[in-house]
Amino acid sequence: MDKLVIDGGKPLNGSIKVSGAKNAALPILIATLLTDEPCVIENVPSTLRDLRTTFRLLESLGKKVVVDGSTVKVLSTGSLKTQAPYEIVKQMRASVLAAGPLLARFGLVRVPIPGGCAIGLRPIDIHLKGFETMGARRIADQGDIIMSAPRLKATTIKLRFPSVGATQNLMMAAAATPGKTTIKNAAREPEMEDLGVFLSRLGAKVHGVGTATVTVEGQSKLHGATHRVIPDRIEAGTFLLACAAARGRVKLLGAEAAHLTDLIGALKKAGAKIKSGKGWIELSMDRRPKAVSVVTKPHPGFPTDLQAPWMALMTLCTGFAKVTETVFENRFLHAAELGRMGAQIAVSGRAAVVAGQESLSGAPIMASDIRAGAALLVAGLAAKGRTTIQRVYHIDRGYEFVEKKLAGAGARLERQK
Ligand code: EPZ
Repeated sequence: MDKLVIDGGKPLNGSIKVSGAKNAALPILIATLLTDEPCVIENVPSTLRDLRTTFRLLESLGKKVVVDGSTVKVLSTGSLKTQAPYEIVKQMRASVLAAGPLLARFGLVRVPIPGGCAIGLRPIDIHLKGFETMGARRIADQGDIIMSAPRLKATTIKLRFPSVGATQNLMMAAAATPGKTTIKNAAREPEMEDLGVFLSRLGAKVHGVGTATVTVEGQSKLHGATHRVIPDRIEAGTFLLACAAARGRVKLLGAEAAHLTDLIGALKKAGAKIKSGKGWIELSMDRRPKAVSVVTKPHPGFPTDLQAPWMALMTLCTGFAKVTETVFENRFLHAAELGRMGAQIAVSGRAAVVAGQESLSGAPIMASDIRAGAALLVAGLAAKGRTTIQRVYHIDRGYEFVEKKLAGAGARLERQK
């Protein structure tokens, strides 16, 4: 298994190109199941493990996927299957998003229930309740959920929590269901807006994405489309935090500041200087960060996906910072690994208090999920001495060409096979 070896404690300086958003590309690629016509999706971070898994998912359901760099063509090969294989769902929970398009188009779908993962139990009850509100019947069989509905009905669905995945699944189902579906308490993440734009290009009429009430006027037949995926705000945020921790000046190219308002506000409070323009964000930092407490919330709140790398930055703050995680119940596994580098963090339930230190020291450490891995990367770049990160495959799920991109900004790191 690969390791990342970082010789840290050196400021970052230079520019880094941000890739297309993993969490926008995944649902958009899955939404190509809504049509038999060709779709072309651009700015896809196609080397990421989760994208490779998505291509396999689409192929297992009967699509042909042609990848050319960051451009992905999805073509029909005949009729689609309505059963997602367990081998794929167990590798990537987002596979469950295939349920919405398949159920709406074919009146039947069978998907394995995705288990929990390192960050929480992650049930899919909100997705299923939404389908039931649209008229589907649900049966559980040997670890699979079978949903059937000769014809879903357009209606109003109120989510008990603004789940990102449930909102996407229901938007896709609604796009292929004639009539007007309203989703209340919908998730408002920028990835939702990108899916809304894609569904509109397929022929659905989508309104209100980015607000808590989304309406989708579906069509019985949707057509093909070309679409460019938005930049990855979590990758961009991770690089901003890496520079804030290691110090220096980094310009992110292809990044969108409007998607990172909460993080940028917190970074400014911590003492970073940030400028941004159309398609770029620049951060410079020349001192230890001030302590800034954050509470993760659904968008537009502080993103849970940046909680771990934020905590890594706060291990170096001048004071005490509280980090509260409200979205997932178990997303502090990185705290113990940061402790191996000299960080002082006390975790109690969903809150952690970080007592900032003058510096961290390099150590052998292990990633437990994508963003815990990102936190270790941020800490390793800032720490004095050598850090070796094991289980890099977690980082590879969310950050493409990570060592090359960071090396381009002066970081000293290499992958060892
Ligand atoms: C998406 O996951 C992202 N994944 C996650 O990114 C991200 O952390 C999360 O949204 C929150 O922003 C993708 O987009 C592929 P949720 P998702 O449904 O859709 C509970 C990363 O690091 N819940 O909004 O699974 C759930 O258990 C990943 O890139 C239910 O209880 O997130 C969790 O506590 C990790 N029942 C909370 O809601 C449900 O039916 C948020 O989940 C659905 C969710």
